[in-house]
Amino acid sequence: MENRFDSRPIGVFDSGVGGLTVLDAIRRVLPCENFVYLGDTARVPYGNRTPQTIVRYAVSCAQQLVARDVKAIVIACNTASAHALDALNAEFDVPVFGVIEPASRRAVHETRSGHVGIIGTRATISSGAYERAMRKIDPQIHTCGLACPLFVPLVEEGWADTEVARLVVREYLEKLIQSAGAAELDTLILGCTHYPVLKKQISDTLAELAQHITLCDCAEATADDLVRQLEARSLLTARDKPGRSAYLVTDDPVQFSMIGRSFMQDPPDNVVHIDI
Ligand code: DGL
Repeated sequence: MENRFDSRPIGVFDSGVGGLTVLDAIRRVLPCENFVYLGDTARVPYGNRTPQTIVRYAVSCAQQLVARDVKAIVIACNTASAHALDALNAEFDVPVFGVIEPASRRAVHETRSGHVGIIGTRATISSGAYERAMRKIDPQIHTCGLACPLFVPLVEEGWADTEVARLVVREYLEKLIQSAGAAELDTLILGCTHYPVLKKQISDTLAELAQHITLCDCAEATADDLVRQLEARSLLTARDKPGRSAYLVTDDPVQFSMIGRSFMQDPPDNVVHIDI
């Protein structure tokens, strides 16, 4: 009888360490899968780069994963998902999934007022990818986006739980709420790999500002969606033993392991350097 399971690893890539939030969420729902995670730490951040550069970087990351015989690729990076998903799906035979569509579906499903906010990097917000994805699902949806470029360095410095971070979070959220169209905002997409690390600071600040806004975590939405996508393609592995994760980075492995601790429950170990 034909084997209905596929034990090949799932490739996950990000501009750096932030995509570990997505890997962590995926491992919680798919604990038996094997993963190859690639963090392009030599070229991070992607969030301030041009669309052409982001596509070029994303293609080279995907090539590395395909060379390692992955059965599917998850673009954990919001910025790369916003700009490179179509290019990767056109270029590679394995299915490639991004984070924008799952998070958009969840946000549209959750909003009651029909007003959804998005926070992310400059490149993600200026791409309009979340707006397009949500309008495809519900053309009546109102959106309001804000780039929060200081969140990434705060998280990478391990400063999420500091007064400085709380001040920065407050500054951005006040701006978002005051901006046109935000009056009825009831859902906010955390449209960047790093933002789940600031979830508590963001929800505490929204509570202080008397805003009843539900946070939509793109890592969780992507993980739940991936289960359905792999199942539909008969790409799931057998649920007989815990899966393993391999980590590749394009810069310093030690630094990656150290910072990676704030992004996932089991910190990344055996991190290997590769050149792209
Ligand atoms: N991973 C990026 C994202 O989710 C954030 C870091 C970067 O700018 O590369 O958009």
